[in-house]
Amino acid sequence: MSSTVNAEVSIVIPTYNESENIKGILHLIKEHLPINTAVEAIVVDDNSPDGTGKIAEDYFESLKEKTRYTVSVINRKTREGLSSAILNGIQQAKGKIIIVMDSDFSHPPQLIPKLVDVLKQSKTDIVVASRYLNGGSIQGWSLKRKMISKVATVIAKQGLGIKESDPMSGFFAFNKDIIKGINFDAIGYKFLLEMIVKARGVSIKEIPYTFLDRQKGKSKLGPKTILEFTHAVWNLYRYGKKEQRNEKRTSVRFVSKAARFFSVGASGLLVNYLMSMLFTTSFNMWYLHATILGIIVSISSNFVLNKYWTFEDREFTPKRTIIQYGKFAGFSSIGALVQLGLVYYLVDEISISYPIALVSAVATAAFSNFILNKKWTFKEKVWS
Ligand code: GDD
Ligand code: MN
Repeated sequence: MSSTVNAEVSIVIPTYNESENIKGILHLIKEHLPINTAVEAIVVDDNSPDGTGKIAEDYFESLKEKTRYTVSVINRKTREGLSSAILNGIQQAKGKIIIVMDSDFSHPPQLIPKLVDVLKQSKTDIVVASRYLNGGSIQGWSLKRKMISKVATVIAKQGLGIKESDPMSGFFAFNKDIIKGINFDAIGYKFLLEMIVKARGVSIKEIPYTFLDRQKGKSKLGPKTILEFTHAVWNLYRYGKKEQRNEKRTSVRFVSKAARFFSVGASGLLVNYLMSMLFTTSFNMWYLHATILGIIVSISSNFVLNKYWTFEDREFTPKRTIIQYGKFAGFSSIGALVQLGLVYYLVDEISISYPIALVSAVATAAFSNFILNKKWTFKEKVWS
């Protein structure tokens, strides 16, 4: 059931067993439409056993005026989850502006005009209704539920480098155009999170609101949702990494690899030190033997890290790996000699103070090592 009106705003409302809420929320939305705007509500129902979809259809039938506000129902055959329901709703939406919200009164329809306003006025691409912004809050949740939400938010923000205060919000508005070409996984509950990660470079605003826990029906969030969340974040994390590898600017790629190479080098110093200590104290080894072993171990760990992480070479066939290891160890020794020679030259020949000489020598050796290994060990172009 749909209508011919060209809606400007489409409100996507996923439902599963919301027979006690759906009619009321559709009605409340109608009472708070943005002025002079045609709005369509799209209920995406996963064949709720309690007949939610039918109730929504009947509600629309009962309306006298069916132009400025229309309701359509997407009846899906099986339960495929919240994110996928949202995606389905968006695909069917006629409006340029999409709003996503829950059907259980947790998201106040009173906020809809403001979401649309901010989206239009400030030329923003996404407007998020946030519980965690100053002025926002959550009413009626148990401490446990609050903690789960907070922890999930921190993980998403830290793990995926997101700046918004409430990337897990289920209440948001956006310009439909920005998701053109995006491939959504649509796993679990986190549609907004996925959109923020994948629609790179869009502008996002947040406005605070008070989330009210539902009065009727049950939350569908359970242990499965938490597993799905982990899965979704992991996918998005890997997606971000892949984007980095596909980085088109050579300068960014070069600097990023150099930075990784130097971090590995620094970690090697630590490994070297710890190993030498371990061998002398715990194994009672002669200190020169311990030092040599420390060097061997750290060169090896540096090699593996640089192969796998810095130069992203995941082929560990024996012949290839041994040849690379030989070259890497060779360049490391040359690097050490360069460093020694340079320190001697700087201090003795041109009287630079030892600390400065040392730092310059280490930097020069590290950089030339990076270039040599890039070109000869891992067979990349120097500038790539
Ligand atoms: N079609 C469909 N399919 N709808 C679903 C499904 C599903 O599998 N699961 C849930 N829904 C609908 C519900 O009927 C409701 O309208 C909305 O999605 C939110 O579901 P709730 O079960 O009420 O979620 P919640 O209140 O626990 O979680 C809220 O807070 C989360 C952040 O902490 C929601 O706003 C989430 O979107 C939000 O991420
Ligand atoms: Mn809810």
